[in-house]
Amino acid sequence: MKEIIQIKKITKKNILQEITITINEGDCIGIMGNSGAGKSTLLNIISGLEKPTTGSVVINKVNITNLKEPKLTKFRATNISYIFQDYKLVDYLTVEENIKLIEKNNKAKINLNKYDTIVNSLGLQDKLKMNVKKLSGGQKQRVAIARSLIGRSKIIFADEPTGALDLVNKKIVLNELITNSKLNNKTLIIVTHDPDVALTTDQILFISNGKLDEIIKTKDIDIAKIEARLFNNYEK
Ligand SMILES: Nc1ncnc2c1ncn2[C@@H]1O[C@H](COP(=O)(O)OP(=O)(O)OP(=O)(O)O)[C@@H](O)[C@H]1O
Ligand SMILES: [Mg+2]
Repeated sequence: MKEIIQIKKITKKNILQEITITINEGDCIGIMGNSGAGKSTLLNIISGLEKPTTGSVVINKVNITNLKEPKLTKFRATNISYIFQDYKLVDYLTVEENIKLIEKNNKAKINLNKYDTIVNSLGLQDKLKMNVKKLSGGQKQRVAIARSLIGRSKIIFADEPTGALDLVNKKIVLNELITNSKLNNKTLIIVTHDPDVALTTDQILFISNGKLDEIIKTKDIDIAKIEARLFNNYEK
């Protein structure tokens, strides 16, 4: 197993207490915990969007905590893709333009076969020329997911990637996200409140009150155990 992300003793003042985790290449990790537990803060720090107060994050042997702009932005653009809870699409562009945007920014050629497969499996083929402003929340979320899958980044961070999706789309999108990542040996880190989503990952990190409570292999847990754990930690 090749280590790809090393999170070493990171803290964030008043939010996160010393967290150390190692993530291997190709791992699919779920992060769960109650609202306010610190999941998004942790994800933002691991992915270089926020600096920790102390500690460091090493990705592909690069200590990103020490990287200054513009090197940090460049590193993020080539190594990481994001699926944000609020989608972060470019409002004045079409669906197609949004999906192709990242690779264009990286001056990379888009693999059109891969593009067609992803667009079709996410049910976006009829929406490509539409302005993203006119899409529903779930449609926007699928565009954000397509954009991250089309990219060549080996690491995908997703904050509640299925929060806006109906049951059918949730299953389709999850399947696409997981299958595509496994196929391309991408490392996937998903913050989610949804036990169905968490159970599709390989292991779940439980965060409560800014602390890493436990890491549980998904094969050793079920929905009832996830719920029990979240109830136990509720406002503790
Ligand atoms: N920029 C900030 N400044 C101060 N406090 C912050 C900041 N961002 C987040 N917090 C606080 O840190 C705590 C953790 O927030 P975070 O967004 O990481 O939680 P979360 O686990 O992602 O919750 P949710 O499930 O509701 O998205 C919260 O109490 C929040 O108020
Ligand atoms: Mg959050």
